[in-house]
Amino acid sequence: MVAILDFGSQYSELIARRIRETKVYSEVLSYQTPIAEIRRLAPKGIILSGGPNSVYEAYAPQCDPALWELGIPILGVCYGMQLMVQQLGGVVERAERAEYGKASLFINDPTDLFTNVEDGTTMWMSHADSVLRMPEGFELLAHTENTPCAAIAHHTRHLYGVQFHPEVVHSRGGMALLRNFVYHICGCEPEWTTAAFIEEAIREVRARVGDKRVLLALSGGVDSSTLAFLLHRAIGDNLTCMFIDQGFMRKNEPERLVKLFKEQFHIPVAYVDAAERFIVRLEGVSDPEQKRKIIGDEFIRVFESESQRLGPFDYLAQGTLYPDIIESAGENIDPKTGERVAVKIKSHHNVGGLPENLRFKLVEPLKRLFKDEVRQVGRALGLPEEIVQRQPFPGPGLAIRVLGEITKDKVDLLREADFILRQEVNRSGRYNDYWQSFAVLLPVKTVGVMGDRRTYAYALALRFVTSEDGMTADWARVPYDLLEQISNRIVNEVPGINRVVLDITSKPPGTIEWE
Ligand code: XMP
Repeated sequence: MVAILDFGSQYSELIARRIRETKVYSEVLSYQTPIAEIRRLAPKGIILSGGPNSVYEAYAPQCDPALWELGIPILGVCYGMQLMVQQLGGVVERAERAEYGKASLFINDPTDLFTNVEDGTTMWMSHADSVLRMPEGFELLAHTENTPCAAIAHHTRHLYGVQFHPEVVHSRGGMALLRNFVYHICGCEPEWTTAAFIEEAIREVRARVGDKRVLLALSGGVDSSTLAFLLHRAIGDNLTCMFIDQGFMRKNEPERLVKLFKEQFHIPVAYVDAAERFIVRLEGVSDPEQKRKIIGDEFIRVFESESQRLGPFDYLAQGTLYPDIIESAGENIDPKTGERVAVKIKSHHNVGGLPENLRFKLVEPLKRLFKDEVRQVGRALGLPEEIVQRQPFPGPGLAIRVLGEITKDKVDLLREADFILRQEVNRSGRYNDYWQSFAVLLPVKTVGVMGDRRTYAYALALRFVTSEDGMTADWARVPYDLLEQISNRIVNEVPGINRVVLDITSKPPGTIEWE
């Protein structure tokens, strides 16, 4: 295992993912993790992340100096390197010229850390401070035009520092450098593989759950589906999958999902048709937050009564992922006041909102995985691509895409339009180009003409976005012919919609969903 000590960098998670790409397990820990805890975890290597502070500021986050004495190889990245330098007696100061973006890296010592890294390769810089003087015993490994100390090492103590960010995609030699660190310097083996994870997870689940019964709320997304497959492998019929249809799913999806699970995967699913209950409670409600609250609340009620009906259960399975549980990330320190600021906001949408009184013990076998790793596990377990690659679909479903007050008719209209959109996007072969592609029914009627008849019907917005993680997004440049095809078919085939418009707002300032 390689531990990433996080000093508030936006890239800490990315470092962990990159290390895992080398098939070495890695975890992000707070920089305040006590030394005793680090010893207990016994990582084979430690990486100190970057961070927004300057090491010479009064309240800059520090690490325990005992870290340098552990005898575990350490790689400091940016702030992490500067911290190493400062604590070991070197000098860090504000650089004459800040350096942001690509820089050519000239290698002074092409051995261990830089084996197989090309001289003059591009590395990505983002710093205003620089190492002015190395601590004693350190040697220079590489430099750039603006940064004399771009990489340093104390070979016998196995302490390494790089000013650039090897983890970002623009750093061309970055992966080679990280591989050198984990394999040659830390002595890690490439053991973190999908097959090894599945085997271990199954063993852990069996040991934890024994012959007790487990309930899983299936949504049809990749996380809950992968979870279902994994648990079914581990405990067979002691797993009960429940699918709550709140009436806001996409056309044919609930039926298809239940059928797929039952007939192809031999995993029975208890289908709960709760559509009527939801729509009744939403009558007359148009405020988006209110709608979400009611849907969340009703979901819990249905969940409660159905789990009693199907139960009793001892455990509840949740598709919690690794990014949901990293607590330390974003624990930034305000250098002036010493206060912690900007804690990353993470919303966790699974069955997240279940109240305390639903006293299940939790099984969360995916909680050490990143999303792309979940996909790999799903694939390895035999999950079909249509689920593995499925675009995110919000828990409240079409309800937050029928703007304002919801009626069954409006949901049906949107469902038809959404179906056509999906068909056309699939047909174009571009489904995987978009983070999400969907339609939003606007609470606006406009005038149109069809044949010789005047129409007065709803307008529909198309939303196509690209994104890495849903936190930020750009509107996708969708080919005109695809837009034309979707628009034509919707206004011709869905009576009740006579106009289609395109949303060209990025996030921020817009959100992906309209409500
Ligand atoms: P926004 O609209 O906030 O959405 O830009 C970011 C991502 O989250 C999804 N989303 C939700 N997912 N329950 C969910 O399970 C929700 O209530 C919810 N709201 C938004 C959205 O589809 C996008 O992928």
